[in-house]
Amino acid sequence: MNSFITSQFSIFLLLVLCATTFHSVMCSTNMQLLCNEKDQSALQIFKHGVLNHSKMLPSWSNEEYCCAWQGVHCDNTTGRVTRLDLAQQYLEGDINLSLLQIEFLNYLDLSLNGFTSLTVPPSHANFSSNNIMFLDLSFNDDLHLDGLHWLSQFSSLKYLNLSEISLQNETNWLQTMAMHPSLIELRLASCHLTNISPLIKYVNFSSLVTLDLSGNNFLSDLPYWVFNLTKISYIDLSFNLLQGELPKSLLSLQSLKTLRLNENEINGSIPDWLGQHENLQYLGLSENMFHGSIPSSIGNLSSLVELSISSDLLSGTLPTSLGQLFNLRSLSIAGESLSGVLSEKHFSNLSNLESIYLSAPFSFDLASDWIPPFQLNGISLSKTNLGPKFPEWIYTQRSLVYLEVPSSNISSINGDMFWRFLANITQVILSNNTISADLTNITLNSEIMFIDQNNFTGGLPHISANVILLDLSHNSFYGPISPLLCNKLGRKNSLDYLDISSNFLTGKVPDCLESWKDLSFLLMENNMLTGEIPPSMGSAIDLVILDLHNNSLSGNFSVDLSNITGLEYINLGQNNFTGTVPTKMPHGMEVMLLKSNQFEGNIPAQLCKLSSLIQLDLSNNKLSGPIPKCISEIPSMGGAHRTIHYPFAINLYTKGQELEFKDYGLLRTLDLSSNNLSGEIPSQVFHLVQLQTLNLSRNHFTGKIPRDIGNMNNLESLDLSSNKLSGEIPVSITNLSFLSFLNLSYNNFVGQIPVGTQIQSFNPSIFAGNPGLCGAPLPRKCPTESDGVDESKQHGGSNDDGVDNESLYLGMGVGFAVGFWSFCGSLFFIRAWRHMYLKFLNHVLDQLHGNGIFGWLRL
Ligand SMILES: *[C@@H]1O[C@H](CO)[C@@H](O)[C@H](O)[C@H]1NC(C)=O
Ligand SMILES: *[C@@H]1O[C@H](CO)[C@@H](O)[C@H](O)[C@H]1NC(C)=O
Ligand SMILES: *[C@@H]1O[C@H](CO)[C@@H](O)[C@H](O)[C@H]1NC(C)=O
Ligand SMILES: *[C@@H]1O[C@H](CO)[C@@H](O)[C@H](O)[C@H]1NC(C)=O
Ligand SMILES: *[C@@H]1O[C@H](CO)[C@@H](O)[C@H](O)[C@H]1NC(C)=O
Ligand SMILES: *[C@@H]1O[C@H](CO)[C@@H](O)[C@H](O)[C@H]1NC(C)=O
Ligand SMILES: *[C@@H]1O[C@H](CO)[C@@H](O)[C@H](O)[C@H]1NC(C)=O
Ligand SMILES: *[C@@H]1O[C@H](CO)[C@@H](O)[C@H](O)[C@H]1NC(C)=O
Ligand SMILES: *[C@@H]1O[C@H](CO)[C@@H](O)[C@H](O)[C@H]1NC(C)=O
Ligand SMILES: *[C@@H]1O[C@H](CO)[C@@H](O)[C@H](O)[C@H]1NC(C)=O
Ligand SMILES: *[C@@H]1O[C@H](CO)[C@@H](O)[C@H](O)[C@H]1NC(C)=O
Repeated sequence: MNSFITSQFSIFLLLVLCATTFHSVMCSTNMQLLCNEKDQSALQIFKHGVLNHSKMLPSWSNEEYCCAWQGVHCDNTTGRVTRLDLAQQYLEGDINLSLLQIEFLNYLDLSLNGFTSLTVPPSHANFSSNNIMFLDLSFNDDLHLDGLHWLSQFSSLKYLNLSEISLQNETNWLQTMAMHPSLIELRLASCHLTNISPLIKYVNFSSLVTLDLSGNNFLSDLPYWVFNLTKISYIDLSFNLLQGELPKSLLSLQSLKTLRLNENEINGSIPDWLGQHENLQYLGLSENMFHGSIPSSIGNLSSLVELSISSDLLSGTLPTSLGQLFNLRSLSIAGESLSGVLSEKHFSNLSNLESIYLSAPFSFDLASDWIPPFQLNGISLSKTNLGPKFPEWIYTQRSLVYLEVPSSNISSINGDMFWRFLANITQVILSNNTISADLTNITLNSEIMFIDQNNFTGGLPHISANVILLDLSHNSFYGPISPLLCNKLGRKNSLDYLDISSNFLTGKVPDCLESWKDLSFLLMENNMLTGEIPPSMGSAIDLVILDLHNNSLSGNFSVDLSNITGLEYINLGQNNFTGTVPTKMPHGMEVMLLKSNQFEGNIPAQLCKLSSLIQLDLSNNKLSGPIPKCISEIPSMGGAHRTIHYPFAINLYTKGQELEFKDYGLLRTLDLSSNNLSGEIPSQVFHLVQLQTLNLSRNHFTGKIPRDIGNMNNLESLDLSSNKLSGEIPVSITNLSFLSFLNLSYNNFVGQIPVGTQIQSFNPSIFAGNPGLCGAPLPRKCPTESDGVDESKQHGGSNDDGVDNESLYLGMGVGFAVGFWSFCGSLFFIRAWRHMYLKFLNHVLDQLHGNGIFGWLRL
């Protein structure tokens, strides 16, 4: 008798036993004998590949009966393992496909783990007949697959999900998948795929119902084969670079319910015939290049549940036929060239509508007592002409979770009623309107509240313990901060982000920060605050960003911030602080901006211990003495790279002007200008090769510029003007190919200005006040030009490489730097928002993401 029959037989006995005794203990103790040996040993091999199995899969070691192991499911008649479901168990290590030895395994879900490799045992007879129908390895982000050939061992696949696994080098993925004609569902979202084979007319996916290829890098026309899948019900091609017009073959996909094409480059008009597709339920066409107007036939899509359309090339108005879409739950329309007036007819039958997103210069013609047919949970209307009065109909919406009406020309609100209404809404965005109201006695209660860029006035409002994110910036609030911060809330507050910048606030920073333990972002710049920083600042233990610049704060900055280990950014600039430069800072400090205060004494050597510092601005103070030599010990200004980025814009003084940077995380700056610093500039300063901006101007530095300056090849802005520097300008300075701002004026430099494309293209004024300098761009010729060139060669030494580089970058100086910035700036901006690595980004922006601002993108 082979083992299979034995176990069948035993199970039979067992069932009889259980049925007659009803003794569950007995049943389970007996069952331990019955786990199929082969199944169990295959599972054991798999377990050994899981690095943290002892922690994450304890039952796999403690229980003898493998059907009782976490995630293992057995057929209760045969006792054979049929399913392994280990989704989201924090497993790491290797997926050993020895699992294929389990003959009756039909379901394998290892998604949402941290597996990094997949081992495929050499294929032999035993495996060729595996029964796996369901395979999900998605969201193992670091899983490295060596091709897709291993899929050939899965001959019964019906459901396959490899989303979020890089298949970047897999140009033949479609051919591989086509070997699985029984596939019902195929998901390859965000796999870095590049080739969708747009010209292939037909693929034998005769059973395919669901196809998700979103978030790849397909740059081509829409593929024929996708619109030729007869059984298809769900197509997601969103977030690619697909072009071309919507194919009419769409109409023959009778079962199609979901079509998501958002975030592509699909052009042409939105065809009139689209309205004939009566089965469509989810239609996502937003963020494409459609032009023309939205056809009124859209109103015939009677099954439609979600509709999103946006393109800046669309014109005309919204067809009133949209009002017939009785089943519609979510409507999202955007386009800066759309126009027209929306009336009650546009909404007449939308009684199932749950959320609306409109961003277009629409006007509204709705009676003041209009009662809409819907009860929404989300309203997002931006850049519309909704105002000047906050519309009455919104008050009829009693279950709103988010209300976003930024940039909508709203100026008047119905005081008490308005604030009482908002108090029940989780997320409120009123930014950039012209609402004028006194908030002295108002209590805000929304978790997320952006009311910045209005004309709110009076004292700061009170907040409840529910508020997590509050932006009151760019209004006309006046008076002290204490009503907001020193008011006991009764229970633990949740405030994580507070922006009260750019108002007319006065008085001291209140000494009640010890109750704001969750506060990560505290932005109070551009007010009229006075007095010293209270000691309790040191107990706002979660702070990440503290901005106090441009107030009238004073006193020694003696607060000890060294325990605020997450603090990365502090801006105390443009105040009246005195005493020595504060050094009680956490080690992770990255940006320290202290300019335009009254700090005095030497630059403290303790600053060199801030190993993450990437920007230090001590300009326009009263500092004296030399620059500490240890400055080159700051690794992040020297060699190390940095990877974390914030989606915040800051203004920095560089290249002779104040510029706004979307992401300060990439910029490295040392600005010590306008002090009384003296002595030679230590050569160590010129070893900070990561620096992009170096400003030592308006001090009393002496000595020469060392040749090493030629190694600072990231330098974009160099200002050494108004010092007492002397000697020749080293020729190596021509190696600085990104240099787009240079000022060496008012020193005692002598000799010929080095020859290099950029240098001669600068304005001559940057060399002014150096009577000993000659050569272009100065009008003063050097005594013997030709000798001068030889001389520069002598001084230049390794100049040859530099000249080569330079011809490479010729004329790219500013353009390249700026281009690089706008590209990388926005790239990292987006990435930071996506990754949401901070508490703030996590739980606050996540909500934004889930519901409002970005919610419409998801369709
Ligand atoms: C295993 O999981 C634990 C628990 O989440 C995690 O802390 C650990 O880093 C993981 N990896 C290893 C190799 O233990
Ligand atoms: C097997 O177990 C499942 C789930 O526990 C149960 O629904 C099913 O009725 C059982 N089948 C037999 C034959 O006992
Ligand atoms: C995977 O399992 C096989 C047995 O099927 C074993 O020989 C091999 O060493 C395992 N691979 C890894 C990486 O553990
Ligand atoms: C893809 O190919 C490139 C070049 O051959 C290689 O560097 C890269 O590591 C490969 N990527 C993956 C995910 O295999
Ligand atoms: C669909 O596939 C058939 C082959 O089965 C082909 O003849 C036809 O042109 C295809 N249609 C489209 C729109 O690609
Ligand atoms: C503010 O709103 C106006 C229209 O009301 C718009 O033109 C402008 O772009 C908006 N500004 C911002 C920063 O959104
Ligand atoms: C706020 O919600 C509560 C409970 O859901 C309800 O009783 C109250 O009427 C609501 N207030 C307003 C102004 O909507
Ligand atoms: C705020 O409330 C106080 C006390 O109730 C009152 O005296 C004051 O006038 C109110 N201020 C405003 C602007 O409503
Ligand atoms: C803002 O409000 C103040 C006082 O209510 C008023 O004097 C001022 O004109 C308003 N400014 C704007 C731009 O509406
Ligand atoms: C700074 O303090 C000095 C003297 O203490 C005072 O004269 C000056 O007005 C203050 N400046 C600012 C911006 O508050
Ligand atoms: C910083 O933390 C240490 C250890 O937790 C503690 O002893 C010290 O008093 C704290 N310092 C400040 C200024 O809070």
